[in-house]
Amino acid sequence: MPPGVVGREAQLLEVERFLDASAAGFAVLVLEGDAGIGKTTLWREARSRAGERGALVLSSRPSAAEAKLSFAALADLLARVDGAAFAALPGPQRDALEVALLRRRPVGKGPDSRAVAAAFLTLIRRLAADGQVILAVDDWQWLDRRAPGGRRRPDPVRPAPRGGVLAMAE
Ligand SMILES: Nc1ncnc2c1ncn2[C@@H]1O[C@H](COP(=O)(O)OP(=O)(O)OP(=O)(O)O)[C@@H](O)[C@H]1O
Ligand SMILES: [Mg+2]
Repeated sequence: MPPGVVGREAQLLEVERFLDASAAGFAVLVLEGDAGIGKTTLWREARSRAGERGALVLSSRPSAAEAKLSFAALADLLARVDGAAFAALPGPQRDALEVALLRRRPVGKGPDSRAVAAAFLTLIRRLAADGQVILAVDDWQWLDRRAPGGRRRPDPVRPAPRGGVLAMAE
């Protein structure tokens, strides 16, 4: 039994299956539960197991207050991605992403959502080519609408040939 998590054997088994599957292909695991039932506890455990396996874990824990802030979760998810990965993006994608992340002044009326989404996909695909990438979101229901997949549930479209989306939601 891992310290900090009591019980939850079935859910931890699902986490292990998800980590196996996302090492070989693309996988999504969504764990839903009522307030206070232990979602964040499991999420932390899953993240640490993914890290122990050598995965690159990109995380976001959006809050209700952030749900109206454009690209807040995108900034969280990409916080651990180094500058070289940004520099390798095609120019229009890099420019749009840097505007979305408030690292560059917008020209005109702000970043083009399509270019931002394309940049995010390009980055994740390139990172996934080097190893397992896990996008870990706690409280998915508070993702801002301009976050990648910022809808009620993770998008079934595969963002990368391998890797995974791990989401906790109410
Ligand atoms: N399986 C567990 N083992 C040990 N402690 C747990 C477990 N599940 C929950 N807890 C404890 O219960 C409390 C609430 O858990 P947690 O924050 O993970 O729930 P949550 O579902 O994320 O809540 P919220 O809906 O508020 O986000 C925490 O103090 C946590 O340490
Ligand atoms: Mg929680």
